[in-house]
Amino acid sequence: MAGVLSMGKKQNSEKNNVFDRLIQEERIFRNREALASTYIPPEFPHRDNEINDVANILKPALYGARPSNILIYGQTGTGKTAVAKFICKQIVSKAETEGKKIHTAYINCKQTNTPYGILTNIGKTYSNDWEDKVPNAGWRIDKVYSALKEKADEDGGIAIVILDEIDTLVSKSGDDILYHLTGLNSDLDNSKISLIGISNDTKFTSWLDPRVKSRMGEESLTFAPYNALQIENILVQRAKMAFHEGAVEPLVLSYCSSRAALEHGDARKALDLLRISAEIAEREGKEIVTVEYVSKAENVMEHDLVRSLISTLPLQPKVTLASIILNRGSKENGQQTTGEVYNTYSLICKRFEVEQLTQRRVGHIISELDMQGLINAKVVSLGRQGRTRYISLSIEQSQIDGALDNDSFLSRVIKEIKMSGYLSSMQLRLI
Ligand SMILES: Nc1ncnc2c1ncn2[C@@H]1O[C@H](COP(=O)(O)OP(=O)(O)O)[C@@H](O)[C@H]1O
Ligand SMILES: [Mg+2]
Repeated sequence: MAGVLSMGKKQNSEKNNVFDRLIQEERIFRNREALASTYIPPEFPHRDNEINDVANILKPALYGARPSNILIYGQTGTGKTAVAKFICKQIVSKAETEGKKIHTAYINCKQTNTPYGILTNIGKTYSNDWEDKVPNAGWRIDKVYSALKEKADEDGGIAIVILDEIDTLVSKSGDDILYHLTGLNSDLDNSKISLIGISNDTKFTSWLDPRVKSRMGEESLTFAPYNALQIENILVQRAKMAFHEGAVEPLVLSYCSSRAALEHGDARKALDLLRISAEIAEREGKEIVTVEYVSKAENVMEHDLVRSLISTLPLQPKVTLASIILNRGSKENGQQTTGEVYNTYSLICKRFEVEQLTQRRVGHIISELDMQGLINAKVVSLGRQGRTRYISLSIEQSQIDGALDNDSFLSRVIKEIKMSGYLSSMQLRLI
C-alpha cells in the first residue's frame, strides 16, 4: 500500500504527465482548425467581386426590405459555401449593431432534403422554442408550413436561408418545396424570407417548374474555378494561421496548389492535400513538412477515392470487378480476356443468386470500369480469329485490400470463390 502511494507521489513530483511530451511536440501545427473544412476564414483572396455582388444583393435586408433570391453556381471547391456563410455572419453582426432583426439558416440539402426537414430548420432560426412546439416528424406538412408562417410573422424579421447543394433537394424531393418557399412571402404579413440556392450543377434549373425557376433565380452568379496562383495565395493565407513559422517548406504550398489546379481549381482539394501532408509528417515525428509528404498525402487521398469508388459501385459492376480480381493470377501480368472474365462472373452470379447478364452487357460494364480507371482493357487483334480485349486491374494490391476491408459483399465473394476450389480447377495460380 505504502509502496503504491509513494510511487504515485514520485510520478507527480517528476511531473511526467503522459501528455506533456505530446503537447510540446506540437511543432508543426499552431491551429489545426484553420485547415478544417468547416472553418470560415476572415478573408477571401480572389473573391472580392463575388462577395461584393452577394452583399449588394442582400443589403436591402438591413433597411427592412426583402433581398432578391440568389442562385450561386460553381464547381466544387470554388468557395461558394464558405463565402455564403461568411456573408451571412457579417450581415447578422451588422444587423445586431443596427438594431435590425435578421436571421440566417444554413441547410445542406445533401443531409436535409425533405420538405419537413427544411421547414423545421428554418423555423428553428426564429426561436429556441420551435422544437417544443413542432415535433421533428409526424405533423402534416401544411401544418408545419402554417407554424412557420406564424413564427415568422410573430418575429417580424427577415430570414435569409442558404440551401446548399440545392440540386440534391430537387432530385430527391422535387421542386414543390421550392415552389412553397419562394411563395411564402406572399403569405407573410409581417416578415420576409429570401433564399440563396447553391449548386455545382449549372443545369439543375432546367428541371425546375418555370415559375420556381424565375422566382429562385431573381439574381444569379457563378464562381469561376481558381488558377494555380490563386489557390497558392489561399494556401499561404491558411498556412500562416495553421502552422508554426518555418514548419512548412514554401515549395509544399506551390506543389499542393498546382496539383489542385489540375483538377478544375478546387481549393478544397488543395487544403486537404496540405492538411494530410502535415498530418503524415507529424505522425512520422518530423518538424518540417517537405514536398515528399505531399506525394504521400496524394497516395492516401487516392486510396480513399478508390475505396469509396468501389464500395459505391452498383451490383453488376461490382461482380464484374470481383471476377477480374479473382482471375488476375491466371495469366502472365494478370491479363484476361472478356470470355475468361465472363466465366468467373457467371459462376459468382449462380452462387450468390445475382441476375446473370449476357456476355455482351458484361462487355459494356468492362468498358465502364475501364473509363473509371479501375481496370485497363486494351483491344488486341488475334489476326484471323478476330479481336479480343486484354483486361487487367489498374489498381494496386494495397488498394484492393483496402477496398475489400471496406466492402463486405466484395470480400465475401472473393473469399468464398477462392475457397470453393473453382480457381484451382481452372489451374490458376493461388492469389
Ligand atoms: N477565396 C478563398 N479564400 C480562402 N479560402 C477559400 C477561398 N475559396 C475557397 N476557400 C476554402 O476552400 C474550401 C472549399 O470551399 P467551399 O466554400 O467549401 O467550396 P464549394 O462550396 O464551392 O465547394 C473551404 O475550406 C474554403 O474555406
Ligand atoms: Mg459547398
